[in-house]
Amino acid sequence: MSEHGLGAWMRARQNQIEAALEQRLPAVHIAPQRLHEAMRYATLGGGKRVRPLLVFASGEITNAAPTALDTVACALELIHVYSLVHDDLPCMDDDTLRRGKPTVHVEFDDATALLVGDALQTLAFQLLAEAGLVNDAARQLIMIEHLARASGSRGMAGGQALDLSAVGLQISRAELEFMHLHKTGALIRSAVLLGALCGEIDPPQLEALDRFGKTIGLLFQVVDDILDAEADTATLGKTAGKDAAHNKPTYVTLLGAAEAHVLAAELRTQAHAALADFGASAQRLRELTDFIVDRSF
Ligand code: IPE
Ligand code: IPE
Ligand code: MG
Ligand code: MG
Ligand code: MG
Repeated sequence: MSEHGLGAWMRARQNQIEAALEQRLPAVHIAPQRLHEAMRYATLGGGKRVRPLLVFASGEITNAAPTALDTVACALELIHVYSLVHDDLPCMDDDTLRRGKPTVHVEFDDATALLVGDALQTLAFQLLAEAGLVNDAARQLIMIEHLARASGSRGMAGGQALDLSAVGLQISRAELEFMHLHKTGALIRSAVLLGALCGEIDPPQLEALDRFGKTIGLLFQVVDDILDAEADTATLGKTAGKDAAHNKPTYVTLLGAAEAHVLAAELRTQAHAALADFGASAQRLRELTDFIVDRSF
């Protein structure tokens, strides 16, 4: 598939997730209006939508039903947006710009930003729990449990805790990998797995996809570290150079920029290798892997 093919596919899917989120978020005229306004401000009209794109691409492998994929893609994006809103709070990364707009606590206030995160997270699980999401209730429960684990103290939230406790410290490469696999990797890995679980898949294939998801999850944060050091604020839509300014250990500070690029290239190769047995049905996942490495924001 050509570069152009991926671009058109991404735009179509980004429009699809925008509409799906718009439908599932409470309308602004519903009370409490300010909270709903802030939830919509945080979620709509921005972001690359990488996690939903992974859900859709993974679902292509298992011929998953489009309605289930829409809902699962929304759940992943809602957890991700909640993590961004909290990540930007003064008590965490203290950022003022996100997706080219003032962060939620700047545009609204800290308490609203806290509640936006709480409400987006619970909305995600409400969506996943809807009756008949997939035609096998036991599989649906596994999906809910999986996302809960990936979001919690042994997943994203735990990774964020490690990130905060590592400020100003020299940590080992193993510790940095563990942190990145959790704070960012867990949700990306979950997007791949849950997209596939919207359809039928046998255990060895699921295991290969899970290896793929884990690899691109780490890869995604390695590239985020590189972009923080090398890209500019206007392109990123978030403040560049924040990791160095805040003394955050990253792959760039640990290995240097050149070695961080080498690692990204190695992880790209590993990710493609994990998909070796899938044939044409995994083409979008391969293309998204390349997008994750080659992206400019
Ligand atoms: C940024 O994620 C935060 C990380 C987990 C690295 P994205 O780069 O996916 O942010 P958006 O959704 O495109 O804004
Ligand atoms: C964010 O990592 C990870 C989560 C939000 C869970 P970063 O702190 O590096 O993300 P950015 O750079 O602010 O988007
Ligand atoms: Mg952070
Ligand atoms: Mg941050
Ligand atoms: Mg970052």
